Amino acid sequence: MPFYHKLGEIPPKRHTIFRKPNGDLYYEQLFGTIGFDGMATNMYHEHRPTQVKEVKGSYKVAPKIAIANNIKSYRFHGFKVKPEKDYLDSRKAVLTNSDCTIILAAPTTSQDAYFYKNADEDELIFIHEGSGKLRTHLGNLDFKYGDYLLIPRGTIYKMDFDTSENRLFIVASRRPIYTPKRYRNWFGQLLEHAPFCERDIRRPEELETYNEKGDFLMKVKKQDEIFDMVYATHPFDVVGYDGYNYPYAFSIHDFEPITGRVHQPPPVHQTFETDAFVVCSFVPRLYDYHPQAIPAPYNHSNIDSDEVLYYVDGDFMSRNDIDKGHISLHPAGIPHGPHPGAVERSIGKVKTDELAVMVDTFKPLQVTEEAMQIADDDYHKSWLE
Ligand SMILES: [Fe+2]
Repeated sequence: MPFYHKLGEIPPKRHTIFRKPNGDLYYEQLFGTIGFDGMATNMYHEHRPTQVKEVKGSYKVAPKIAIANNIKSYRFHGFKVKPEKDYLDSRKAVLTNSDCTIILAAPTTSQDAYFYKNADEDELIFIHEGSGKLRTHLGNLDFKYGDYLLIPRGTIYKMDFDTSENRLFIVASRRPIYTPKRYRNWFGQLLEHAPFCERDIRRPEELETYNEKGDFLMKVKKQDEIFDMVYATHPFDVVGYDGYNYPYAFSIHDFEPITGRVHQPPPVHQTFETDAFVVCSFVPRLYDYHPQAIPAPYNHSNIDSDEVLYYVDGDFMSRNDIDKGHISLHPAGIPHGPHPGAVERSIGKVKTDELAVMVDTFKPLQVTEEAMQIADDDYHKSWLE
């Protein structure tokens, strides 16, 4: 997150002597992205963070593609993804391109046996069902229904769930995920017209520090392969850090909708941006207040972006027969719009309770084999009169 955060103990100057109570030195590490140009954090470890004992092996996790070049609109039944015990096994890639992968997951148990690090991608995890604690080497974040968790690439983490009922919608991004540039001033501060502000962004406040030696299994994702690495010291051994690169949480319920006299375009819902896709939040709001306004969206052409809508809650006005956990995919190259009857139904309505997350990608998405198992293959005909 592009604002300064400090947690734990750090020395007054970077790259200077910082000793433990017993006189030994702490081990400094710069944790950053985009070479030395992006956001970075300076942290101090109990032990060298480089103590690899063993690389036990690896396995491939690249999504299996069913449709490489897709022109059909699809609906996927996200809640039909089967719950699985293990967090990583439970993650099912449904849509993917070279910039990002959209994943559904229903893990039933906390991640006890290993630490996880995604070296390929930033992860944006939307909590649809469930609650718990995201534990990271840079501190912890409690999460519950409606939270987005932004986990920068390289963050070592564990997911602790309160119960076995969890539904996650995840966007793994090879491009760094930021808040929209147009909502930030030249110092990076969120502006008055932004739909959220710094107070809505929850930073890690609780730092777990373990000074332990042993065998610590870390699963590291790199180039779509997971490597089982054994480290000689506990991965959560940071005593303090400061900087801009750390995980944070933002609740969709804290997104303040921007409304108007006539229909507002999707960018008013934008919450996150990358140079390859945007993420938008559709939240309960008042409808357009021009006396002749049509609240339903007009037909529009996705000529150069694929539109993915993940339906979270409420009644989604522009669609017929849409339920919680459904995903609609409206691909680039063809127009899409409200279902028959939706425009008429929307006239005179004053508000909506809909809650949804949208991902618009600038490169086409490929449909995976996992997605086809939960696909509605007739959805593309659902506008026929
Ligand atoms: Fe659309």
